[in-house]
Amino acid sequence: MPQTIAATLIPGDGIGTEIVDATLAALDALGAPFQWDRQIAGLEGVTAAGDPLPKATLDSIRRTRLALKGPLETPSGGGYRSSNVRLREEFQLYANLRPARTLIPGGRFDKVDLVVVRENLEGLYIGHEHYVKIDDDPHAVAMATGINTRAGSRRLIEFAFEHAIRLGRKKVTVVHKANIMKALTGIFLETAQQLYEQKYKNRIAMDTVIVDACAMKLVLNPWQFDVLVTTNLFGDILSDLVAGLVGGLGMAPGANIGADAAIFEAVHGSAPDIAGKGVANPIALMLAAAMMLDHVNLTDKAARLRTAIDQTLNVDNVRTGDLGGKAGTAEFTRALVKRIEHA
Ligand code: NAI
Repeated sequence: MPQTIAATLIPGDGIGTEIVDATLAALDALGAPFQWDRQIAGLEGVTAAGDPLPKATLDSIRRTRLALKGPLETPSGGGYRSSNVRLREEFQLYANLRPARTLIPGGRFDKVDLVVVRENLEGLYIGHEHYVKIDDDPHAVAMATGINTRAGSRRLIEFAFEHAIRLGRKKVTVVHKANIMKALTGIFLETAQQLYEQKYKNRIAMDTVIVDACAMKLVLNPWQFDVLVTTNLFGDILSDLVAGLVGGLGMAPGANIGADAAIFEAVHGSAPDIAGKGVANPIALMLAAAMMLDHVNLTDKAARLRTAIDQTLNVDNVRTGDLGGKAGTAEFTRALVKRIEHA
């Protein structure tokens, strides 16, 4: 009997259940030894337990330190705080890992294979914002504070270098705006340069680029990059940019990793417009599951899952509607499971 690995499963809202079921079917076919503790969050948490992040869900992740999560709905403007942000803070998930690889050849950006490593807890996303009233205008001035720490930058950049080296990558590019935000992003750049000198200069290449130039270079020639590491806001934008290079959010997985837990998810949201119709593309969550397999050192199963996705898309030509195909979630999943079983 193979050893089991306890993990929390949060199906989430909207298309969550559909893509989670598809992903579980793929993991079962691979014989992945996860023992799931199913929990709720997001809108389902509010409806069923009066809390978008119930205590039982937090306790489960505290115990397993490992979770696969479907999308969670967050109201815009008012309403409850994003459960995703709360999860990141609760478990200090400081690194957001967003790989982007071309899955369907022959498009505008063929053979792209990049990883964006984004700082997940600091920067301009800490939520210290306020307005200043002048005369009768309560919103005359808007202010936001960003905070980057040397310790926070260091642990993230160290994570990026270690991850890049483990994957056999060739180069880490540090993305910043230290020419303008000299302190806020200067500390990130300075920390990267010091760390590189101290620990990494004989092990991997490093270069630096200003974020606006980086955006242009990514669109003109994404192949010049390998691993990009950057602060929270820039990472949020650039990771969506690279997802766009390889076919959009339907194919983009993400991992939120900290010292105490790791949570794997699709980058896209709950897609309420297609929920319940059986047409959602499950690939992003499946690729997140592949990252989860890598994380627990089941790299062979992770590779088999990625190969089966490639073959289902490109040999069998079974694709969901967002990729121009005609298959529903169930048909895609059946074809994928067949590929896994007959590999
Ligand atoms: P969304 O990503 O849910 O949808 C954007 C568009 O992409 C929609 O047209 C949708 O149908 C399509 N789409 C998304 N995933 C797809 C898939 N797997 N297959 C086929 N088409 C897909 O973004 P939206 O509509 O802005 O957000 C909806 C809800 O999701 C909001 O409540 C938002 O807060 C939440 N959200 C949650 C995230 C998470 O839990 N990590 C991330 C992003 C949004």
